[in-house]
Amino acid sequence: MMDWRDLEQACRECNRCGLCATRKNVVFGVGNPKTDVMFVGEGPGEQEDLKGEPFVGPAGQLLDDMLSIIDLDRKKNCYIANIVKCRPPHNRDPLEIEQDACVEYLYNQIELIQPKIIVCLGRIAAMRLIREDYRITKEHGQWVEKDGVWMTAIYHPSALLRDVTKRPETFEDLLSLRDKIQKLHCNACV
Ligand code: URA
Repeated sequence: MMDWRDLEQACRECNRCGLCATRKNVVFGVGNPKTDVMFVGEGPGEQEDLKGEPFVGPAGQLLDDMLSIIDLDRKKNCYIANIVKCRPPHNRDPLEIEQDACVEYLYNQIELIQPKIIVCLGRIAAMRLIREDYRITKEHGQWVEKDGVWMTAIYHPSALLRDVTKRPETFEDLLSLRDKIQKLHCNACV
């Protein structure tokens, strides 16, 4: 396991997969590494690639709004990362081989942060971190404990931009997340 500085450095210099050829910036993650609550998306989009920060495009604005409903703030009391740290061209889903090459970095981040809760943002992250055959439509908002970490998935903010009818369910999922944060006495409580 690498410490935070070495890990960030290794990511910035990474060429383990083809995505390094087209990236403008490595998107390592953002937030407070001392938090108990982590969010994991799938991979950077165009804006994220340009800025080097996760979720800064329209989906990111929506994510910030969702977080603020339950008193979370990306700069203060949670941490946000992705399964892959470089942008897949044309925002396609990251390939299995790219995820395999990159996910060790995320595992290292998780080991260093030691969150009590991990929230997967969307299907790709849930299939990677919770279960290979995870069904986001059926299972979002449900909690599973894995290796001592409470895990759930909610719809990806991009899906909520495309389909507003999914938003009420996500609101319920956020309330359930707030409950969990309180029950586990997470340091994300304000
Ligand atoms: N979508 C993601 O999954 N991650 C980001 O960082 C941005 C958009």
